[in-house]
Amino acid sequence: MAKVGVFGAGWVGLVTGACLAELGHDVVVRDVVPAKIDALNRGEQPFHEDGIPDLLARNRERLRFTLEASELADREFLFVCVDTPPTPSGDADLSRVWRVIDELPALAGHATLVMKSTVPVGTGEKVRNGLDERGLQALGYVSNPEFLAEGTAVRDFMHPDRVVIGASEAADGDGVAALYAPLEAVILRCDVKSAEMVKLAANAALMTRISFINEIANVCEATGADVVKVAEGVGLDRRLGPHFLRAGIGYGGSCFPKDSLALKQLASNSGYHFQLLAAVIEVNELQKRRVIGKLKAHLGSLQGKRIALLGLAFKPGTDDMREAPSLVLAARLHAEGAEVRGWDPVADGSGLAGVTLVETVAEAVAGADAAVIVTEWPELAGLASPEVHAAMANPVIIDGRNLLDPAATRAAGFVYEGIGRPAPARVAGTD
Ligand code: UGA
Repeated sequence: MAKVGVFGAGWVGLVTGACLAELGHDVVVRDVVPAKIDALNRGEQPFHEDGIPDLLARNRERLRFTLEASELADREFLFVCVDTPPTPSGDADLSRVWRVIDELPALAGHATLVMKSTVPVGTGEKVRNGLDERGLQALGYVSNPEFLAEGTAVRDFMHPDRVVIGASEAADGDGVAALYAPLEAVILRCDVKSAEMVKLAANAALMTRISFINEIANVCEATGADVVKVAEGVGLDRRLGPHFLRAGIGYGGSCFPKDSLALKQLASNSGYHFQLLAAVIEVNELQKRRVIGKLKAHLGSLQGKRIALLGLAFKPGTDDMREAPSLVLAARLHAEGAEVRGWDPVADGSGLAGVTLVETVAEAVAGADAAVIVTEWPELAGLASPEVHAAMANPVIIDGRNLLDPAATRAAGFVYEGIGRPAPARVAGTD
């Protein structure tokens, strides 16, 4: 059992702290926001993430929350789990990382600083120099990026595909590797810069697959192929695999948009134009807007039309609205003069421009000229019901996530359009 400190009780910090406690370590999590620490000390979860309440309840003895950095003075490992949002230039803002370093307490014994926050390649070197300048030469440094997806973060931590550990001193890397020993995970040991790059490259590869399949979907629409079958056929190739080939209205969230921009800027600051990544980002921006064109094709002008936006979070299983495609859709619909009602089972959509938020799907679709599935919440799987059909002024469903079965939805009397799926005449084989 090791003594672990975690800076940041945000999503990464809380999941990391709770999971390390679950592995048997003694963990103190420190944050600077009093309301967050108070809530955690009362046993409340500050955001929606499956599995966290159980972990907090089960590990109360080994997991404490504090506002005081000094309470981390006796820790052997200090995890940095603060956010690194984009600056106006698209570079990662490392100010919170530097604040942690400035607030490090006088340490009782040998300790290792472990960077989990997503940072540009070269950050480890800068932090090392910063630590040395502050007289902290004895403090070890390890890059240990996180690969947690929201909604499945606890499972991703406890059953990782790999744990990446980048260190310049082998002993520091050994110490961090030992923390994960109970997981029996594949551990990749490398230098600090390569570990930093693994994180950025993995996210870029996932985004590239999404933009790739979205472009294939757009070509499917132009040619009459069905992207769902195409993705299945492509994914059965063992060299490619089935993951991240779901076409839709683009990726969002707290990581992909920010990390793609940060990697693009990192490359450009180093004198390299990352052409492929620039295209991936642009394809994603355009993809979010395609729904507007589909609505216009069915309804003509959207002025005064009532549109139901179903699902607002950037993906199901989370209440996170950061960079959600719903933000772009709401703003575009508002600009077109549409009357928009938004529904989500957990996310707070109060930041959406000109959207009236409602509690139920029934309220959202009542009198609607079209319903748009923005997030594939399981609650929406039964959308093509007689009740919804009767409630809508115009039974048009635009399925931005290919959640529904096109044939069954059309058979229920709806006008249905997904992403990259063929028009009905071609499906029926009548042409
Ligand atoms: C992502 C990565 O999956 C994690 O490995 C990584 O650790 C994390 O970012 C991070 O950098 O912290 P996350 O943003 O939580 O995790 O969500 P994903 O499940 O990856 O989904 C991202 C977006 O891509 C969502 O908007 C989702 O709807 C979209 N997506 C995903 C697609 O449009 N198609 C797909 O096939 C898969």
